[in-house]
Amino acid sequence: MRKPLIAGNWKMYKTPKESLAFLDKFLPMVQDHERDEIVLFPTMSSLGYVLDATVGTNVKAGAQTMHWMNEGPYTGQTSPTMLASIHCTHVLLGHSERRIYAHETDDMVNWKLKAAIAHALTPIVCVGETLDKRQTGLTEAVLRWQVACALNGVEREGSEDLIIAYEPVWAIGTGSTASPTQVQEAHRIIRQQVSDRLGPDRAETTRILYGGSVKPENVALLMAQPDIDGALVGAGSLDPETFCRIIMYTGPKG
Ligand code: PGA
Repeated sequence: MRKPLIAGNWKMYKTPKESLAFLDKFLPMVQDHERDEIVLFPTMSSLGYVLDATVGTNVKAGAQTMHWMNEGPYTGQTSPTMLASIHCTHVLLGHSERRIYAHETDDMVNWKLKAAIAHALTPIVCVGETLDKRQTGLTEAVLRWQVACALNGVEREGSEDLIIAYEPVWAIGTGSTASPTQVQEAHRIIRQQVSDRLGPDRAETTRILYGGSVKPENVALLMAQPDIDGALVGAGSLDPETFCRIIMYTGPKG
């Protein structure tokens, strides 16, 4: 019912030339892969090139962030209208690196989510607790709060394409993955919160991805959990062979 989605977050890596070299190798490797949806998130300067190079393929591309306004005096920003105009289909919202280094607040994530929905961009809203919050027993409170804030004022109608990514801050880029049991429990809490806000049927169809040191070696065990519907992969998505091995995991959903 929920088609698994494997996404590659390239963060601030790869020039346009490097992005196209990746695709030259990657696209033929995954061209017959239908089980999972595949989405790449290149940096803004490569996005247009990746969108052009993936037309007519089974790989989609999205932006790593966007502003919530259509246009205006916001130096350095890109608007939802601009993303839609280049046929960008997906957008990451509230990644912890945006929250930490660009000071994005829960309110901003909420405004961005509403803007994405208004422009028919598929949003992937990132949430996740810090190590400190986990160690003090606040994981559930943080996840419920972040999801509630993101969904504040979001209507059931129009939220059909909503995707949430659970990315515990302590597992991102650290090599230490959350265990499948920890992730399953966090996803269950997130799905419950979506249910409380948007209704049980929307919660049932909303895909929840896990992100944080996903590798070829751990992806199958994670994907075996009932509430894990995909992965948001950073470092493991930079090399075409490694990312392909992650996408081609074998397991119950395979
Ligand atoms: P990582 O990053 O796979 O390198 O831990 C995941 C992410 O930040 O989306």
